[in-house]
Amino acid sequence: MEFRQISAAERTATMFPLQTYAFSPSPWSPADEEAYRGRMRFFETTVNLIAEESGQTLAGVAALRMRENVRGLVHDMAGVASVSTHPSARRRGLVRELMQRLLRQMREEGCAVSALYPFRPSFYAKFGFVGIPRHRIATFAPEGLAHLVRAELPGEVERLPMSEAFEDYDEVIQHQLARRHGFAVFDEVRAAELRDMKSWVAVARSGGEVVGAVRYVIEAHGGDLVAQDLHCTGPLGRALLLQFFARHVDQVARVSVRLSTDDVPELWGVDFEVTVEGRVDNPTDNAPMVRVLDMEALSGSQAGPGEVTVEIAGDELIGGVWQLSSSGGVLGVEKGGTPSATLSAAGFSALLYGVLDPVEVFTRGLGEFSPEAIPTLTEMFPRQMPYLFADF
Ligand SMILES: CC(C)(COP(=O)(O)OP(=O)(O)OC[C@H]1O[C@@H](n2cnc3c(N)ncnc32)[C@H](O)[C@@H]1OP(=O)(O)O)[C@@H](O)C(=O)NCCC(=O)NCCS
Repeated sequence: MEFRQISAAERTATMFPLQTYAFSPSPWSPADEEAYRGRMRFFETTVNLIAEESGQTLAGVAALRMRENVRGLVHDMAGVASVSTHPSARRRGLVRELMQRLLRQMREEGCAVSALYPFRPSFYAKFGFVGIPRHRIATFAPEGLAHLVRAELPGEVERLPMSEAFEDYDEVIQHQLARRHGFAVFDEVRAAELRDMKSWVAVARSGGEVVGAVRYVIEAHGGDLVAQDLHCTGPLGRALLLQFFARHVDQVARVSVRLSTDDVPELWGVDFEVTVEGRVDNPTDNAPMVRVLDMEALSGSQAGPGEVTVEIAGDELIGGVWQLSSSGGVLGVEKGGTPSATLSAAGFSALLYGVLDPVEVFTRGLGEFSPEAIPTLTEMFPRQMPYLFADF
């Protein structure tokens, strides 16, 4: 068995058949293969690893170069994707070997964290990943926002095709990357594919500044306006975008929009009828998962006050004993000390990302704590739900 890194151009002959068999209707046509080849320019910076035997590709994995804000620090992030094994080579440990190589390599190349969308979370739990929230979808009739239709707001919304809105849209995305915990974006090479998407963008501006943007399509007259994530720099941006949706009354029956777990659409109006759904399902609709790849890179993260030494057990990348201390709101990470808690990589990642507290880490079997470590870790890593945003 040979394991090697391949270029984007080689993906069509090697990874395309595995991925398309695994994730798409098949058999595929030559046109599907051509379309895939055409997209490979957006994967020039992606790291692709394959397992080959007698010239046949049996498994492949990839990492997209991304960036992610974790507790105030923007890290290089490995977005794991394209994980697939030929059906006759499954359960031979090929993806295990490829994943280990990929995560090691991405860490060596400077990625402090990694994220992915699992087909089954328990599979990636073996690699130190832990779940974070899935986006919610709010669905409502535009009539529900009637109070906004004539509201005088200090700003305006322009409707543009994505090809023309790309820079404005990217500005709002980058604004959120700098400020929002968990928010992740692609590098420029991968992000450029968005420019070609058949999609409208509503761009909200106030005082010449972009304050909000949302991608959407209209499925049918009298049907649905389907929007992606509602990106805004603050409440004015949100109000302008909701007003824009409200003005589709009598044109569409429903608006659906993707939200993070901290958005509360029932507060958008009085008598406002809305359904908010967060659907989680194997293998197609799973919540994302994340893990830390490099402990020392976490120095400088936002953290509550405290000092504690933890042991991270059974992990090649972040295993060892770590002294964590925080004063003035900034985390310091150093090697060594006497641990008062033992955590798995997933358990520590859950604390850092703010999705589980120490008691939940314990009840999930991801760590054990001395009694005094629990309040300290609770204070240092307060619950704070991340919003990944990027889909891959
Ligand atoms: C999921 C998939 C990638 C696994 O690849 P693989 O090469 O068979 O995996 P490995 O043999 O390296 O298995 C690694 C570990 O996961 C376990 N595992 C494999 N498939 C599993 C599954 N479907 N559910 C739970 N555990 C699984 C193995 O038992 C092994 O555990 P161990 O190391 O503790 O013994 C492969 O079955 C596949 O291509 N499936 C269809 C596409 C897909 O779902 N890809 C993932 C997208 S996120």
